[in-house]
Amino acid sequence: MNEIYQVTDSIIITQTTALHAKALELLQYIVFPTLAEDEILHEAHYLKHLTIFPEGQLVALDGDKVIGGTTTMRYNFDITHPAHHTFSETVAGGWLTNHEPDGEWLYGIDVSVHPDYRGRGIAKAFYEIRSKIAADLGCRGQLTVGMLNGYYKYRDTMDIDTYYLKVKNHEIFDPTVSVQEKIGFEIVGLMKDYLNDPTCGNAGAIIVLENKFKQ
Ligand SMILES: CC(C)(COP(=O)(O)OP(=O)(O)OC[C@H]1O[C@@H](n2cnc3c(N)ncnc32)[C@H](O)[C@@H]1OP(=O)(O)O)[C@@H](O)C(=O)NCCC(=O)NCCS
Repeated sequence: MNEIYQVTDSIIITQTTALHAKALELLQYIVFPTLAEDEILHEAHYLKHLTIFPEGQLVALDGDKVIGGTTTMRYNFDITHPAHHTFSETVAGGWLTNHEPDGEWLYGIDVSVHPDYRGRGIAKAFYEIRSKIAADLGCRGQLTVGMLNGYYKYRDTMDIDTYYLKVKNHEIFDPTVSVQEKIGFEIVGLMKDYLNDPTCGNAGAIIVLENKFKQ
C-alpha cells in the first residue's frame, strides 16, 4: 500500500517507512507502559519488518508526528483448535521472521494509538485498512490476540478466566478487547500466558475479523 488514508482533516495513515522507526519505538513505551522490556518493539525491529512484509506495516501521522502504528504479518492458524503461543514466539522476539508469505490470516501484532489521540477513529481506520490489505492479499481475514487490558481493575476479585467470560458475555467492557469487538472482531478464545504485562494478567483474547470482501 502506498496509499494515503485520511482519518481526520490533519491525521493520515500510510505505509511505515524507515523514517518512522525510532518514533514508533518511543510510542511503544507510551502506549504499553507496563509491558516487559523484551516485548517492546524497537527501532531495529521496525526496520527489519520493512524488509520482511512492508505492506503490512502502517503508521498514523499528524503532520510529521507519529501518533499511531500497527505491525502485521501473515500466519497460518487453526482457530477451531487454537494452539497456545506467546507474543514473543509469534513475533520471533520482535523480528517478524515467522511471517508466512502464504499465511491464511493477517496476524495483528499490535495497534498503538497515542493517548492524546484516542477516540478519534484511528484504531478503527487501522483495522479497516488491515481488512483491505487482507482482502488484497487473498487472506481469510484478520486474526489477533487482543490484550485484556481492563483486567487490572478486577484482579483482586476474579481470575482471568472469569474476567474473559464476563467480557465475552458483555458483562464487563474491556478497553481493548471490547473496542475490538465493537469494530467487528469476534472473540473465539482465551490465550493465557501470552505476554508479560500485569495490566492484562498476561492474557489476551483470540479474536478474528473474517474478510467481508471475500468472494
Ligand atoms: C485500543 C486502542 C487501540 C483504541 O484506539 P482508538 O483510536 O482510541 O479507537 P477508535 O477511536 O478507533 O474507537 C473505535 C470504537 O471503539 C470505541 N471506543 C474506543 N475506546 C473506547 C473506550 N475506552 N470505551 C468505550 N468505547 C471506546 C469508539 O467510540 C469507537 O466506537 P464507534 O465506532 O461506535 O464510535 C487504544 O486505546 C490504544 O492504543 N490502547 C492501548 C494499546 C492497546 O491496547 N492496543 C491494542 C492491543 S495490541
